[in-house]
Amino acid sequence: MSFPRLPRQDQSVTVSPIRFSHWPTPLDPAPRLATALGLGPDDLWVKRDDLTDFGGGNKVRKLEHLVAEALAAGATVLVASGTAQSNHARATAAAAARVGLRAVLVLGGTALAGRPGNLALDGLLGAGVVHVGGLAGGALDRLVEEVADQLRAGGEVPAVLPFGGSSAVGARGYVDCAAELDQQAPDAAHVVVAVGSGGTMAGLVAGLGPDRVLGIDTGAVPDPVGRVAALVAAQGAGAGRLRVHRDQVGEGYGLLTAAAADAMRMAARTEGLLLDPVYTGKALAGLAVAVAEGSIRRGERTVFVHTGGLPGLFGHAFASELAAAALGGAAEGATLT
Ligand SMILES: Cc1ncc(COP(=O)(O)O)c(C=O)c1O
Repeated sequence: MSFPRLPRQDQSVTVSPIRFSHWPTPLDPAPRLATALGLGPDDLWVKRDDLTDFGGGNKVRKLEHLVAEALAAGATVLVASGTAQSNHARATAAAAARVGLRAVLVLGGTALAGRPGNLALDGLLGAGVVHVGGLAGGALDRLVEEVADQLRAGGEVPAVLPFGGSSAVGARGYVDCAAELDQQAPDAAHVVVAVGSGGTMAGLVAGLGPDRVLGIDTGAVPDPVGRVAALVAAQGAGAGRLRVHRDQVGEGYGLLTAAAADAMRMAARTEGLLLDPVYTGKALAGLAVAVAEGSIRRGERTVFVHTGGLPGLFGHAFASELAAAALGGAAEGATLT
């Protein structure tokens, strides 16, 4: 069977990516959010990578390259790992379904009772979920290897995808996004994006250069700068001096901060723009600080990359808090007369 393919941007790459979504994603103005942040109304634009297929988000671009390589290598099953609310695992399950492969998801972290979020989609997509629960340090990686060995013993050809989809191959998806942005907003001074496993920022830096990309760390890995730099180098580009702000991590990865909650409310209530608590909420909070401290100034065209993640909100404790506040009515500012 053949799949729709995208043109290769990089002629040194032999496998054409598979087209999994509709490109380019829109670049939408956000004048009310811009004003609320203290920017001019024309300064802020949102790159809508949340509007991709498979439940939305940045993982789809990476998977176009990763799954193309897996198919070229004769894979019969995709193996992805992450937390119980992994957007990457969910998107992998969808990509596997699209190309007729099996997906096995090795998930650590805790699945909160009654808040299924991405796990519900994993089930809907028919993925095999191997583990949900607390797993420390390298234990998840070891479990992934065990699962891959078992699959091989059963006659399957597993393709073990990199953590968060962030490898030299996966990051190519965001070199593609950088090329879109070059067309859509050639004068953008700042492109602001959440950093988890680093491939998204790395691809953008490889395509746009280090000065224009501001990464907001979400605490997913201990050395985000080193990871991004290595992934940029793997694209054959120079990382230069990376702009990574690490002041939004709070208590740690996945744990909501007051600033992220405020940023989520601000985006929702000024633009109807729905962010998630783990990545994009923290990224917008980081953008707000950058404006407040003057590293992003009025009159400088700024792109906020919306990397998706909304299904994860429904797997997060913050969802219950928001629902309770909505039922509380006036407490959250909605007074009916
Ligand atoms: C919604 C969302 N935004 C941003 C990121 C960060 O992307 P990366 O892992 O490429 O740094 C992730 C990664 O899981 C994500 O799920």
